[in-house]
Amino acid sequence: MLKMSAPLTSAVDAPAAQRVFDLEQAHVLQNYARYPLVVHRGRGCYVYDLEGRRYLDMISGIGVNALGHAHPRIVKVIREQAALLTHCSNLYYHEYQGPLAGRLAAMSGLERVFFANSGTEAVEGAIKMCHAHGRAIDPAKTEIISLGNSFHGRTCGALALTGQAKYREPFEPLLPGVRFVEPGDAQGLEQAFSERTAGIILEWVQGEGGVRPLPEAFVAKARELAGQYNALLVFDEIQCGLGRLGLYFGYQLSNPPILPDVALVAKPLAVGLPLAAILANAKAAAAIGPGMHGSTFGGGALACRVALEFLELLDELLPSIRQVGAYFRGRLEELARRFSFIREIRGQGLMLGIDMEIPGKQMVNDALGENLLLNCTHDTVLRFLPPYILTERDVDTAVEALTRIFEKTGR
Ligand SMILES: Cc1ncc(COP(=O)(O)O)c(C=O)c1O
Repeated sequence: MLKMSAPLTSAVDAPAAQRVFDLEQAHVLQNYARYPLVVHRGRGCYVYDLEGRRYLDMISGIGVNALGHAHPRIVKVIREQAALLTHCSNLYYHEYQGPLAGRLAAMSGLERVFFANSGTEAVEGAIKMCHAHGRAIDPAKTEIISLGNSFHGRTCGALALTGQAKYREPFEPLLPGVRFVEPGDAQGLEQAFSERTAGIILEWVQGEGGVRPLPEAFVAKARELAGQYNALLVFDEIQCGLGRLGLYFGYQLSNPPILPDVALVAKPLAVGLPLAAILANAKAAAAIGPGMHGSTFGGGALACRVALEFLELLDELLPSIRQVGAYFRGRLEELARRFSFIREIRGQGLMLGIDMEIPGKQMVNDALGENLLLNCTHDTVLRFLPPYILTERDVDTAVEALTRIFEKTGR
């Protein structure tokens, strides 16, 4: 690891990592607070920096690299497909979009799919679906309910639905007609719904908001009210879906099942290539007719083929996600018993968080020194979104490093 410095006038002789830092500082929009690590390559659950130092990757590109790095089956299909066809636009058919849509429909119970490129774009599409659905009933039926503490993305529509003022306020005015309800506040939910409600959007587990699962009874209430007011229930499963919790979708954990009208997926769908999907039941899908929505890149041949390969591998991985996830959670609970600044361990499967009384940013820096990658969200929550191929041995390695980091706090 090298220290960041002011941009050099001539970067030619600088060591390789320093050159990367300097050019980034000089020319890249300074919107990211990056950690001082240049990731050069990855293999399995590990990444390597330019000097060949190895790091255990417990964040996997913020939940994207679900099969770890350089998975041989993914490398193989990328090679094959890149030599055949990467993109042909949505003016034509290719061989992989239909089969991928069919597979996602079978997994989700939602029969129609639109492909986009990123989570936020999937949210934008869902907003349009809600508005079009509502307006077909009454032009004033365009309100959307969202939750406090939620995160739905950075484009203006998704931002308007994001229940954290720090993300929203610098860009206001945003989309009007959004009503926020606090997670778990069933009474507030009832008050927010009206004949003007076109849709409601929820994360089964609020990820960016600190790995906070929603109470199931609250989600059931949302389902009931959405039905009563003929509004679309949208589950944003961009972070918690596609195996992360040990099942295909978070909502499949509910008993009896709480089915949404629309589910959104992205992050791991093409395990590193940009791909997202809106999964919609017949009622929601009926809102969008020819010409009403589209994307140049969405659902390209390469990304769709990779996603099909990922979903084929996912079935075999689900039991291990549950088992290793439970083991990981147990080990984190041991840490919680030992270190008094830990308030709570949250999450399940391979989406886990340590909620602390103290800030986590320095710990993430310390973890780099321990050859461990993780992330801090909501200032005080250490978040783990490791690859689905994680083993109990990897968990032990991470917990040993965390123990050393936590000991430094002296608490
Ligand atoms: C729940 C949720 N929704 C939407 C998004 C936005 O996804 P993207 O960054 O791919 O636009 C994220 C990203 O972290 C997310 O966690």
